[in-house]
Amino acid sequence: MPSALPVSPADTSTTTTLVHTPSARTSEWWRSAVIYQIYPRSFADASGDGIGDLPGITGRLKHLARLGVDAVWLSPFYRSPQHDAGYDVADYRDVDPLFGTLDDFDEMLTKAHALDIRVIVDLVPNHTSTEHVWFGQALAADPGSPERARYVFRDGTGPEGAEPPNNWTSVFGGPAWSRVTEPDGTPGQWYLHLFDETQPDLDWDNPEVRTEFEQVLRFWLDRGVDGFRVDVAHGMVKAEGLPDWTGTSSMIDGAHEGTAGSEDGSTGAGNQGPMWDQEGVHEIYRAWNQVLAEYEGDRCLVAEAWVEPLARLARYVRPDEMHQAFNFSFLTTLWDARALRSVVNASLEANDEVGAPTTWVLSNHDVVRHASRLGLEIPGSKPNGIGAGDPQPDEELGLRRARAASLMMLGLPGSAYLYQGEELGLPEHTTLADEERQDPTWWRSEHTERGRDGCRVPLPWAAEEPGYGFSPTGSTWLSQPDSFARYALDVQRGTPGSTYEVYRSALRLRREFSLGTGSLAWVDGLPADAESTVLAFVNREVLVVTNFGPGALRLPADLELLHASQDLPLAEDDAVLVPADTTVWARLRG
Ligand code: NOJ
Repeated sequence: MPSALPVSPADTSTTTTLVHTPSARTSEWWRSAVIYQIYPRSFADASGDGIGDLPGITGRLKHLARLGVDAVWLSPFYRSPQHDAGYDVADYRDVDPLFGTLDDFDEMLTKAHALDIRVIVDLVPNHTSTEHVWFGQALAADPGSPERARYVFRDGTGPEGAEPPNNWTSVFGGPAWSRVTEPDGTPGQWYLHLFDETQPDLDWDNPEVRTEFEQVLRFWLDRGVDGFRVDVAHGMVKAEGLPDWTGTSSMIDGAHEGTAGSEDGSTGAGNQGPMWDQEGVHEIYRAWNQVLAEYEGDRCLVAEAWVEPLARLARYVRPDEMHQAFNFSFLTTLWDARALRSVVNASLEANDEVGAPTTWVLSNHDVVRHASRLGLEIPGSKPNGIGAGDPQPDEELGLRRARAASLMMLGLPGSAYLYQGEELGLPEHTTLADEERQDPTWWRSEHTERGRDGCRVPLPWAAEEPGYGFSPTGSTWLSQPDSFARYALDVQRGTPGSTYEVYRSALRLRREFSLGTGSLAWVDGLPADAESTVLAFVNREVLVVTNFGPGALRLPADLELLHASQDLPLAEDDAVLVPADTTVWARLRG
């Protein structure tokens, strides 16, 4: 006989532990928004060159309105040589011709706003491209010049300065320093790049850099954007003297295996070297908070900061700093009821302390898609890319768990981020040919880390069209796996039970029950055999139950079923059963 859920609708107080009350501050849209990440080069291509663009986004905005998202965040579309897919910006005030023009941007923004979709753009302030005019000026100028002082140039160590200034390594692999050739042709100084050598770090101690970025913020705010996602928000200020450090710097380091959770929500994903999370970054965000406050309406700053524990991350979202921070501790937690409960608790506690909304995220353009991560032998573990020679995820199981995970996430109070294609249940492309890879991680790691191309494959819109409808010519900048035919939007739209329809109903119900600004109370007193395999909480009047399996769980008869990530079987006595790897939403009657 499957375990029964001990929820007594008549008296929930005796069986629940309240850990978060409904937010008193509900007026700002970003506190509860569902924000959809668009990775422009892979969303939709209007020009036919195989690379997504702004007109392509504009043409598909109705899809997003129908899905029911509140906002979009666009990864970079600025002028860039694209050595790191646009996270190497050559001109912060212009659109790269690959993606269109500033007029195309304005049109996209106007149409998004007309559909009630807010728009957040990406800001990349830690580093520029080597093709930025400032870097060209720095190379042409002398050591010690004001032009070099915008970046982190240093003399080398050892005989003739032939060794780098310190031992730091790049997040993408290899050294974090490159040596320049001086204008007179001699080997010269070294410049710091925490990422690719084409991404020189700016020196944020330099007031000119600060002024420039405040102007860049204003440039986009004047055009009407609703906020900024701030790249590498924990890396802009480096420790005085740039001391050596023996740790490794990585967006995902330490989290390859995921975590079984800990009291403070630490997963090992946080970086702690002298280049990360320095006190000085907070002054920058206090200044930016003031810039945003000059503009009408609610605008927001979102921190991409791989910082742990969560209480430390919450310092980025204190009332006078940024507004949200991505919750990577949640993303890197294994598929495990106890671990997820710990990280949810730690997240809510840390953010409640500073009055900020918690965010939730399962996928983005830097990690293996969660539909594939959850199908790995250690579900939820986080390899840095998957290739044909690696153990392959179980696609069906991964998708089943991904739907359950997403429905659980969307039931939580706070703001949730979706990554394009997850509403289709898209898996990672795990057999992409190595020759096609474009992520600098692949070659900088000397072909040991496959990197992030597998989650960046162009979206399938139409099963029967060339390139699955991504581009009018059928061309795609990365090839798509054959399985994408099964996931295309046109085969899912209007199909009951499809992943797309599961997401769409979830977003509608989330809004209807105001779950984003809601509460969280854990259902306690689960039968002993379900304690470590079931996660059950109440948000306002909605009960969210995830069964991690292997056994099924009986739902009490007096619950009104609202939504489920899978079809639910019935027991012989007609009780509703929640099978393994399934989430249900139900309403407490009474
Ligand atoms: C984080 C971005 O999400 C990632 O894609 C990029 O490579 C690095 N920052 C460097 O900008």
